[in-house]
Amino acid sequence: MNLTDILKDRYSVKQFDATKKISDADFKQVKDVLRLSPSSINLQPWHFLIADTPEGKARIAKGTEVSFPFNTPKILDASHVIVIAARTHADEAYLTSILEQEDKDGRFAAQEFKDQVQGGRKMFVDLHKYDLKDLSHWMEKQVYLNMGALLLGAAALGIDACPMEGVDVKALDKEFDLHEKGYTALAVVSLGYRKDTDFNAKLPKSRFSEETIITKL
Ligand SMILES: Cc1cc2nc3c(=O)[nH]c(=O)nc-3n(C[C@H](O)[C@H](O)[C@H](O)COP(=O)(O)O)c2cc1C
Repeated sequence: MNLTDILKDRYSVKQFDATKKISDADFKQVKDVLRLSPSSINLQPWHFLIADTPEGKARIAKGTEVSFPFNTPKILDASHVIVIAARTHADEAYLTSILEQEDKDGRFAAQEFKDQVQGGRKMFVDLHKYDLKDLSHWMEKQVYLNMGALLLGAAALGIDACPMEGVDVKALDKEFDLHEKGYTALAVVSLGYRKDTDFNAKLPKSRFSEETIITKL
């Protein structure tokens, strides 16, 4: 399939086939998408909680049962469900942990390059922390890029998905003690395979035209 076919075939699944499971080999590639997604200054300000058992999915469904019950079956019937969480802070220790990982991965031929990267990274974080005062929002943008990659990556693997902001993120933060761990939930993505009866599979895709969204200069 070419990319346009993949983009047209993917859609937000409203009814998953509870009998179908994503294979371990395919899910390994899904996890690679999560890990290899790009982020500004390689900040990687994310964490993912993944459930593929009825018990794990039931815990995630606590985030939909009260305010967003229409999303609950999309969690319980999916093969794998991912809670997407963002970091709540980016302190010096965290920046150093990124730097040390990059060093371990062989990115610095000399100490001066390592020092430069740490300085540049701190400059960007301080900009968002003190000048723009949008550090959390900026980190969350990076996490949304990852979610975009996840949706396209899953589609390329022939895996169906439903991204959900219709979840009580405070309930998820509480259920998984995310604040204590330095994170906050943003959204949930269910992955699996569409059920034959899913009405949304038969609806045509609706988007503004190319002329509306793109200006050629
Ligand atoms: C960030 C995000 C949050 C969404 N939240 C929900 C949701 O809570 N429940 C749901 O059924 N669909 C949800 N959707 C699906 C959108 O409604 C859908 O992507 C949009 O209508 C375009 O349709 P398509 O994905 O089928 O192409 C969400 C999509 C995105 C990208």
